[in-house]
Amino acid sequence: MKLCVALDHKDREKNLELCKELKDFDIWLKVGFRSFIRDGRDFLKEIKDINPNFKIFLDLKLYDIPNTMADAAEEIAKMEADMFNVHASAGEKAMRAVMERLRSFENPPIVLAVTALTSFDNESFKKIYGEDIDKKAIEFAKSAYESGLSGVVCSVFESLKIKENTSYDFLTLTPGIRPFGEDSADQKRVGDLKSAKREKSDFIVVGRPIYKAKDPKEVVWRILQEI
Ligand code: C5P
Repeated sequence: MKLCVALDHKDREKNLELCKELKDFDIWLKVGFRSFIRDGRDFLKEIKDINPNFKIFLDLKLYDIPNTMADAAEEIAKMEADMFNVHASAGEKAMRAVMERLRSFENPPIVLAVTALTSFDNESFKKIYGEDIDKKAIEFAKSAYESGLSGVVCSVFESLKIKENTSYDFLTLTPGIRPFGEDSADQKRVGDLKSAKREKSDFIVVGRPIYKAKDPKEVVWRILQEI
């Protein structure tokens, strides 16, 4: 299991300070909308300058028509991103177009599909997608698997079931992790390290419990000890 730290600080300097503080750890770093929209590709380069072994997950959750998604995937593959994601609900055609476009790259980034956002509870999810989260998440995962993606983003509660319905090699990345039972804030379906282990999550994403901690290095160290 790998730890992926969300770089969700408000400003670039603070995010880079956090990277510097964590530079000796074997971890992934998640760059989301805010940072990427503001700081762009240079920010990814700056992260790799701090430690070239840092792995970067570019969390842009692509959702568009197939050709536009494939165009975006091609541009991401030229950047310093080791992994990025698309919405499974964009459909199989779009996911296949993305994978097809990445074929010509020698070392393409890992592509994951978002099943259900962890901020959804079942009722609000059902209003949009018309089905219960657990059922639909598995359906989305199966279509991502069949489209040739490497894995999915899902809540920790769906990880094992998704593997059972696809393959144990099919990756699961689970946000909404509160390692030692910290405050869940806006997340609805949160789990701790024990549940992430039990559910065989391949990547856990941890944001606020690390970057808002007094001593982020110590929290990361404790998480790595446990996983
Ligand atoms: O602070 P916290 O640990 O809740 O941060 C979780 C991070 O994971 C945020 O950056 C959020 O955008 C992201 N994420 C999520 N749920 C998903 C996909 C990504 O919470 N399904």
